[in-house]
Amino acid sequence: MSQTEIFESDRAAGYNQFVDTWIPNYHYFLDQLPRVLRDVEDKTLLCVGCGTGNEIERFVHSTAQWSITGVDPSPEMLKQAREKFRTSNRVTLVDGVVTDIDSAKKFGAATLLLVLHFLDENEKLLLLKAIADRLKPGASFVMMDITGNGSSFNENVKILSKLWPVDVDPEQAKNRLHRIQHELYHISEEKLEQLYAEAGFEKPVRFFQSAVYMGFLASKK
Ligand SMILES: C[S@@+](CC[C@H](N)C(=O)[O-])C[C@H]1O[C@@H](n2cnc3c(N)ncnc32)[C@H](O)[C@@H]1O
Repeated sequence: MSQTEIFESDRAAGYNQFVDTWIPNYHYFLDQLPRVLRDVEDKTLLCVGCGTGNEIERFVHSTAQWSITGVDPSPEMLKQAREKFRTSNRVTLVDGVVTDIDSAKKFGAATLLLVLHFLDENEKLLLLKAIADRLKPGASFVMMDITGNGSSFNENVKILSKLWPVDVDPEQAKNRLHRIQHELYHISEEKLEQLYAEAGFEKPVRFFQSAVYMGFLASKK
């Protein structure tokens, strides 16, 4: 991938506080993931853009014996993940992007959480294809990101701002709203379906929504 969003030291150190403030129901969503994927037979999981390992943590602590490969291009984020999982022999962490993972190895499931919004449409498709290439037919794929378009997106942005903590700094809230609306790349569910079809996935099912943040489950064709 040519396009990556690197989280340097300050951003990496403050990451958990960032999600707690700005992404309502983020932890609830992560907590559900092992249950959403409990019927996956081959419990090998590829976590793309795993960051500090928040999603990996849920699978490590689930009763099923998942074997997890996390990949992320931000060394400062991955450093925190390495610290968390240093005693776990079921977690492998790779510095880099998904194309650094050998495509001969096919996983039973994959996650891609809060990554797609950094990429334009073309890059989103390349990333989705690269993930599909590393999955077995029928493998499950969970993605969560800023999604929507038109007036319903704008309404959901307003609702999002109401879900933020009441004591949030108004200037920071204004900046965050501007970033979501004008700097990050959100797409409609219809566009997402098209990209999934082109990348080699079945139609995604939306199973989670917290204002503009939507979570989807899909199968690899
Ligand atoms: C907002 S964080 C999400 C981290 C984690 N998935 C979570 O939900 O807590 C986005 C992560 O995506 C990574 N990233 C940025 N561009 C990427 C790309 N092209 N491929 C994979 N990961 C990428 C960043 O390094 C960062 O750690």
